[in-house]
Amino acid sequence: TRRGAGGDAPGSEPGQHPATLDECRRCDLWQHATQPVGGAGSKRARIMLVGEQPGDQEDIAGAPFVGPAGKLLDRVCEAAGVDRRTVYVTNAVKHFKWEPRGKRRMHKTPAQREIEACSYWLEKELAQIKPQVIVAMGTTALKSVLGTSHVTLKDTLGRALRHEGRWVVTIYHPSYALRVPDEAARKQAFATMVEGLRMAQELVD
Ligand code: URA
Repeated sequence: TRRGAGGDAPGSEPGQHPATLDECRRCDLWQHATQPVGGAGSKRARIMLVGEQPGDQEDIAGAPFVGPAGKLLDRVCEAAGVDRRTVYVTNAVKHFKWEPRGKRRMHKTPAQREIEACSYWLEKELAQIKPQVIVAMGTTALKSVLGTSHVTLKDTLGRALRHEGRWVVTIYHPSYALRVPDEAARKQAFATMVEGLRMAQELVD
C-alpha cells in the first residue's frame, strides 16, 4: 500500500473540501504533524494576525503562537497597546512542516503548493471573523493573504495595502525578530513590528 507514502492517500488533492481541519488531506503535511493548529482569539476581532505555520510547541499544544515566537508576539502587542485577547491569531499553513535534525524537529518553510492548499482554511477564517485589517507576519503569510507568490516583504513592509475590501499591513515574522544576531538590529526589527501593529490599530474604524 502506498498510504502514508505521499500523494495517494484518499483526499490528498487540493480539490478536496474537508469539513474539518482534522480531516484535511489537501496536502501531505498532516502525515508528520501531531495535529492541525487552527486560529485562536476573539470571534469579533477586527485585526487578524497571520503567521507562517505552527512551530514545534504549537504542534504539540494545538494552539498558535504559544512558543518563543508567541512570547515575542505578546511583547509586540503589549508595546503597541494591542490587547492580544481582542485580536485573532492564525497561520497561513495549519500543519507543522519539519525535518529531523538529531533529536530535534527543525522547521522547514512551506512550499507554495502547501500555502495554496491551506489558503482554503484561511479563507474560511476570514469569512467567519471578517477582520477589517490583516497583519501578515512574514513572507509566507503575505503570499497567502495576497494569493500570489510574486511578492516580497520588502515590497510591502510598513505600508498598508487595500486588498479585497480589507487592509493588509505587513510586518516581520516574530521568529525573524528573535533571530537577528546583532542586538541593535534586533531592537530595530522589534520596533518596526510595533509600528506596524500600531498602524493596523489606527486603520480599524
Ligand atoms: N511561528 C508561526 O508562524 N506560527 C506559530 O504559531 C508559531 C511560530
